[in-house]
Amino acid sequence: MKFSIKSGSPEKARGACVVVGIFENSKLSAAAESIDVASKKYLSKLLQQGDMDGKAGTTLLLHNVAGVQAARVLLVGLGNENKFAEPQYRTAVATAVKQLNSQGGQDAALFLVDLKVKKRDVVWRTRQAVLVAHEVSYRFDQLKSKPDSAKQALKKLEFAFARAADATTASEGLMQGEAMAIGANFTRDLGNLPGNICTPTYLAEQAQALAKDFAMRVEILDRDEMAAMGMNTLLSVARGSHEPPKLIVLRHMLGKKGDKPVVLVGKGITFDTGGISLKPGPEMDEMKYDMCGAGSVLGTMKAAALMKLPINLIGIIAAAENMPGSKATKPGDIVTSMAGLSIEILNTDAEGRLVLCDALTYAERFDPACVVDIATLTGACVIALGNITSGLFSNDDGFAAELLDAGQVSGDRAWQMPLFEEYQEGLKSNFADMANIAGRAGGSITAARFLSRFTEKYTWAHLDVAGTAWKSGKEKGATGRPVPLLTHFLIQRAKQTKSARSKKV
Ligand code: BES
Ligand code: MN
Ligand code: ZN
Repeated sequence: MKFSIKSGSPEKARGACVVVGIFENSKLSAAAESIDVASKKYLSKLLQQGDMDGKAGTTLLLHNVAGVQAARVLLVGLGNENKFAEPQYRTAVATAVKQLNSQGGQDAALFLVDLKVKKRDVVWRTRQAVLVAHEVSYRFDQLKSKPDSAKQALKKLEFAFARAADATTASEGLMQGEAMAIGANFTRDLGNLPGNICTPTYLAEQAQALAKDFAMRVEILDRDEMAAMGMNTLLSVARGSHEPPKLIVLRHMLGKKGDKPVVLVGKGITFDTGGISLKPGPEMDEMKYDMCGAGSVLGTMKAAALMKLPINLIGIIAAAENMPGSKATKPGDIVTSMAGLSIEILNTDAEGRLVLCDALTYAERFDPACVVDIATLTGACVIALGNITSGLFSNDDGFAAELLDAGQVSGDRAWQMPLFEEYQEGLKSNFADMANIAGRAGGSITAARFLSRFTEKYTWAHLDVAGTAWKSGKEKGATGRPVPLLTHFLIQRAKQTKSARSKKV
């Protein structure tokens, strides 16, 4: 889909369709008002007749409206005007784009971006509109012999503002939104690809392709190189599989030389059978999504590269396949991590923390400003927060607040969970420095607590995206989360370092 920005009045917009909003109780938005005037009160008449009531999620499509240049007018219900805020705005754009994708015409002028949203500006509204438009238009049909629907979907979407000054401001939002959406779509594609295609080797190839396209540096460490560094916990996960594990390191260094990098670490289990602690059969196919943390690192780096963000950013991906096999790690096996801590693997299905702990130790060598790991780590996190909110854990509350804010602004929210020392108790082992599991209670916290043992040397946060990285059921598919959260966080960081620098001068 191609996006553009324009200013002008809705009745003069040409093309297949002009989209304007209607609040509940027949209250017209400013753009709808213009159409109403141009059409000699046609909209008012329809509303009086009860053809539309302005309820959120509703639409009414009109053809050949007198006084209007565009072939169609799409009315979109916005709900109660006093309650119109971020979620209602997103719903309105989503409703409009879904309808536009299913009706005739390949282009539209969207006046919804001109609606006031509490606390949010033109840049935000434009950025969110791009993200939402991509989200509802996303399809994954590359493995079908024919695409799903023959319908002509929307090809061009114009963001339309009444004021020329707003149109100028909006371009920043368009640029950011497109970068985020392309990054998130990349993450979705990687997630949706099945385990027989998206292997650790495939992830490594994707990182190499990114590096080539955007002049990033990439390094791929293989089994022998990891063994030489003592990454035994990571390697213990890959032992049962024929797919070779990879440690992928990607660097986007557009910040000032010497600026400490932000490091993103992704869990890249390209399929999680549970290993010898085998998972039950139902829904096991969804464990192809167990590399979504890794996918979000690649997607975020793609977004940062598209924006040419002036920041030093390093992505590390711990990629492996967790399979049972004659060489597979067994419950009770003890391995020594790169950090020197020995770990009793009581359950081979708690493998995410095992690949991450070595990757997190490896991150130390970059002297990071901060590290965020992203992982589909625990079913317990899904029980705690459902599929709406990602779990956030951090050894620094200020850093946590920064990430929570990025989630709030980008509409990709997280919620902070505790990491209190008392949770360490459950990870005690009779035979090693620690076990890889604790009891069932607080499972997402004990998992995070396990990771925290390997991140004491730097500012760190952990995002458990087990509930948010993909959807199950009829709408099964990757969400591209938390690419919006991470990308917004990086945009803010890039701004901060810039202003800190100009202060120094
Ligand atoms: N990848 C899973 C976590 C998961 C499960 C994410 C279901 C989304 C949906 C992870 O590797 C895992 O298996 N975790 C175990 C840990 C347990 C053995 C301590 C879990 O959550 O059951
Ligand atoms: Mn597992
Ligand atoms: Zn897993």
